[in-house]
Amino acid sequence: MKAYRASLLYFSGPQAAAEQIVFEKDGLLVVGPDDTGRQRVQAVGDYARLAALYPGLPVEHLPGRIIAPGFVDMHIHYPQLDVIGSPADGLLPWLENYTFPHEARFCDPGYSAQVAEFFIAELLRNGVTTALTFASSHPASVNALFEQAQKSSLRLLAGKVLMDQNAPDGVRDETQQSLLDTEALIQRWHGVDRLGYAITPRFVPSCSAAQLRGAGELAARYPDVWIQSHVAENADEIAWVRQLYPKARSYLSVYQDFGLLRPRAVYAHCIHLDDADRALLRDTGTAAAVSPTSNLFLASGFFDYASADRSGFMYGLASDVGGGTSFSPFHTMLAAYYVGRQGQGKQGLSLKPQQLWWQHTAGAARALGLHGVVGNLQPGCEADFVVLNPQATPLLARKTAQAGSLEELLFALIVLGDDRLIEKTVISQAQIA
Ligand code: GUN
Ligand code: ZN
Repeated sequence: MKAYRASLLYFSGPQAAAEQIVFEKDGLLVVGPDDTGRQRVQAVGDYARLAALYPGLPVEHLPGRIIAPGFVDMHIHYPQLDVIGSPADGLLPWLENYTFPHEARFCDPGYSAQVAEFFIAELLRNGVTTALTFASSHPASVNALFEQAQKSSLRLLAGKVLMDQNAPDGVRDETQQSLLDTEALIQRWHGVDRLGYAITPRFVPSCSAAQLRGAGELAARYPDVWIQSHVAENADEIAWVRQLYPKARSYLSVYQDFGLLRPRAVYAHCIHLDDADRALLRDTGTAAAVSPTSNLFLASGFFDYASADRSGFMYGLASDVGGGTSFSPFHTMLAAYYVGRQGQGKQGLSLKPQQLWWQHTAGAARALGLHGVVGNLQPGCEADFVVLNPQATPLLARKTAQAGSLEELLFALIVLGDDRLIEKTVISQAQIA
């Protein structure tokens, strides 16, 4: 067992909602192994009260620092590391001109391993400790990523992209083989250490009906694997889906018809939905990965926060690198704030900093079906956390020193923060007995 003394930021209560944010100015975080040796939070709270309960426990004192839950990125593409910042007129030309040619390189296991290593280091440098990520369509790219994640003990959910049509040679896969490969990868990786498999149909236009049907059948056979895809991101994409499925009620309903909406299914973007779609997400327990830097960069549109909250489906934040422009959760939270301001009609919404923070930690964990496992510092959670240094830059130091409330402090961190604010990322280790 070991303890850390610092300011602590987390969410309390059984639901750990955004409103239940706690800031413990002089706090103590006690971590220690569970029965299996995995490091978990054992206790969290006020230093003076807790320290007395653990006499003799080694304490690392971090004055002036804030310990907060590791961030949860609900949607990211590891083979798009080098696609960041590729301008295009919109999603479809961006895919065709930059993304597909780039992803073709991931047929090479050596290249995949090299990118996977950099990718995971970059997640950690930015304080991201859980990620749901696309690999490429090549099984070798999945193996390379899981091998690296296993080495760093990262909680990583990932899958081989399914794309058997409307895609060029080099990334297009073959229907039957793609499903066999997916099942073999589930059996090899799902539930190994902290790794989880995600069945990954790229999006409706790139998957034949047979491939989507096969993906749905696998999802039924493996009910605790994740599903990840894209939906309702861009006007041209939506028009294309309408041509492909003229009888479908909506783009989202195509996934429903193939058995691909359920808890642990996560759809990136969810911008151009109607209320029936939102009800379908809610009623099936399907989650949305809100990707604001990507949606601003590719001019895809604005996630409708007000309608989402009215409907009550689960959502959380995501970088969507390489459509997204940054690995930093602070950049993503700030972009989400802009989306709230600009995208919700004349009045605009002012998302509270605690809501933004929740959407990237405990709220995202809940949307992934990992409530109480990651994204928070409540007792029982896996001990993944970040140590923030609010003095990391002169301007951060100046601004945070003047914060008169928790809201002002969090807002300063979100607006001015980046990887420099993350002094350290601590990953829950499993001790070898
Ligand atoms: N839709 C299908 N593939 C992709 C992708 O790689 N990125 C984004 N943003 N949207 C997609
Ligand atoms: Zn994406």
